[in-house]
Amino acid sequence: MIYLSPLQGVTDSKFRNSYIKHFSGVDKFFSPYIRLSNKKDIKKSQIRDILPENNKNIPLIPQIMVNRSEDFIYLANIISDYGYDEINWNLGCPYPMVTNRKLGSGLLEFPDLIDDILEDSLKNISIKVSVKMRLGLTQIDDIDKILPLLNKHDLTEIIIHPRTAKQLYKGNVYLNKFKEVIQLSNHKIIYNGDIINFDFYKNNIAPIKEIDDIMIGRALISNPFLASEIKQSANLSMEQKKQVFKNFHDSLLFEIENSLSGDSHVLSKMTNYWEYFSLFFNNSRKVFKLIKKTKSLSKYHQNVNQVFNMR
Ligand SMILES: Cc1cc2nc3c(=O)[nH]c(=O)nc-3n(C[C@H](O)[C@H](O)[C@H](O)COP(=O)(O)O)c2cc1C
Repeated sequence: MIYLSPLQGVTDSKFRNSYIKHFSGVDKFFSPYIRLSNKKDIKKSQIRDILPENNKNIPLIPQIMVNRSEDFIYLANIISDYGYDEINWNLGCPYPMVTNRKLGSGLLEFPDLIDDILEDSLKNISIKVSVKMRLGLTQIDDIDKILPLLNKHDLTEIIIHPRTAKQLYKGNVYLNKFKEVIQLSNHKIIYNGDIINFDFYKNNIAPIKEIDDIMIGRALISNPFLASEIKQSANLSMEQKKQVFKNFHDSLLFEIENSLSGDSHVLSKMTNYWEYFSLFFNNSRKVFKLIKKTKSLSKYHQNVNQVFNMR
């Protein structure tokens, strides 16, 4: 199976709805993380993002980011009340603002705390749990202590992004370390990280016999055909791909125009997407520059048409 990674600000319900209309190959979607504020509130936009009516026909697993069992239970129950039967726990977010508060991969240096949170939470909730994690905060060995503890708990699966938080999203993924730690786990392991194209998958991940399922993030935004290319389930010409991509773009733009007011907000949101979309085109820097300098929606339409006529 192929999962689409959660990307905060990118893979929200508008993106997911547009995606499933135009592409195939993704079997599971994950919401960007939901967390509680200091006052224990959840942002309305985070709830809206997982409302069943905004995710019709989307196999969605909502993700939570917490570091206390009472918050875990509270969020799990809210999500379960919306009809979901599984949540994912974020132990991977690498940003210091998060990790300094012992959230995301900030918890990876505290294996006993992870163990305690799961121990307390799992017996008090009726929803299944999976985990998404990195190898460690600053050391790739943090995971060595964590996986054996996770073996005690009833989890559906563990998604591993084999980097440390210190690396953020850059530098090499530690593939050898990944292969080594699979052996420490009794759970189903999912690989995530830097699957940039079919060849990377074929050469590096397909040969790992313990791994059947993968999660892809950035490359699936840049090339939304990647999931079907990996499954070898679609064979479109470049012209056909451009047409499908353009239709997808137009659906996404429509959703975003309906949810944001003011050209500048819409343009800034779309420019954010074009950081990824531009990589689909040979002359990606030129494409991104052209979109980025756009100041009005009418000019944006013109520039987008020009881009789709380019490659
Ligand atoms: C802009 C951005 C936002 C992200 N937001 C989340 C998030 O909300 N939850 C999460 O688990 N991972 C998040 N990630 C990490 C991705 O889900 C994924 O693990 C990472 O990008 C590596 O996979 P890739 O190389 O296929 O992109 C984010 C990554 C980026 C670049």
